[in-house]
Amino acid sequence: MGRRIAAKITGVAGYLPPRVVTNLDLEKRVDTSDEWIRTRTGIRERHYADPGVASSHLGAEAARKLLAAQGISADDIGLIVVATVTPDMLFPATACLIQDRIGAKNAWGFDLSAACSGFLYALTVGAQFVASGAHKKVLVIGSDVMTSILDYTDRATCVLFGDGAGAVLIEPAAADSEGILDFVHDVDGSGGCNLYMPGGGSLHPASQQTIDNRMHFVHQEGAQVFKYAVRRMSELAVEILERNGLTSKDLALVVPHQANLRIIRGMQERLGVDDSKVLVNIDRYGNTTAGTIPLGMMDAVEQKRLRKGDLVLLIAVGAGYTTGAVLMRWAY
Ligand code: UT7
Repeated sequence: MGRRIAAKITGVAGYLPPRVVTNLDLEKRVDTSDEWIRTRTGIRERHYADPGVASSHLGAEAARKLLAAQGISADDIGLIVVATVTPDMLFPATACLIQDRIGAKNAWGFDLSAACSGFLYALTVGAQFVASGAHKKVLVIGSDVMTSILDYTDRATCVLFGDGAGAVLIEPAAADSEGILDFVHDVDGSGGCNLYMPGGGSLHPASQQTIDNRMHFVHQEGAQVFKYAVRRMSELAVEILERNGLTSKDLALVVPHQANLRIIRGMQERLGVDDSKVLVNIDRYGNTTAGTIPLGMMDAVEQKRLRKGDLVLLIAVGAGYTTGAVLMRWAY
């Protein structure tokens, strides 16, 4: 049996900073090639924020677009949950900065750190406040400026990421059959050593030594993360479908985290769904960490690939390790 939450997504929007960086642009800066990046990851280009543009700026832009599209005022928002691993600063929370930027004066909010699964964690958490009746309108935002923590001497990692943000509005669900049907999350902390940023926290506060040792950058054991991601994304997808009495044939669309096209294809092969049912935009955005899933939903809506009542699976694996799968009936 699933864990139905009486909450639904009623709108989605995203924001990509305007500067596009192609693989050819990266060739000028990094010992890499367009061919390697395309064939090993599926990425062609990504967006980069300009210096001085942080996660709160991207998140606020996505939120503003969402509010405008929904025709609602920022005053109506009760809660803002922000997923990010690149907060503007360690504190105050990026949610507070976004609350101020968009003028959501009746909202409280907080940040949540679950890396590439962050948006799904935030979605599940935000939805609980709607389901409990505490709030009628919750903003869930995934925003990351990954370029602020990239090491351009680490070619296996720096080519993967881009900057971007997405936002959804969550509201109470009326009928039993619409909105969020179920969620699965877990953590495997033993994988923490495979994807992390060691510097700048309480263990290794910023010092000349942490800077010299390049500790303020993402470190990744790519092959380890790759294998874990394909296996767990497939397992989670099967688990959440089975316990709801569904199969992959019932799915209208899978919106997976966009870390590597080969991870997405590996997962989809194990699940037995064809390309038409899988949202892919990694070619244009790269891996935007907490941004990938809302940006995927945004693209799916724009491409008219989502219709009311469609069964949709959102799925991610990220640093931690963290995982998330959210199953829903698209509600608009
Ligand atoms: O969202 C967060 C979760 N992150 C992920 O899910 C990422 C998971 N991992 C991956 O996507 C892949 O492991 C990578 C894309 C990071 C790396 O791909 P890979 O196929 O595992 O490559 P590799 O690290 O095994 O490297 C293969 C070769 C090496 O050369 P040699 O030793 O075989 O001569 C690397 O030095 O490719 C080389 N290489 C590159 N060559 C050109 C690694 N990066 C690059 C590069 N350009 N950017």
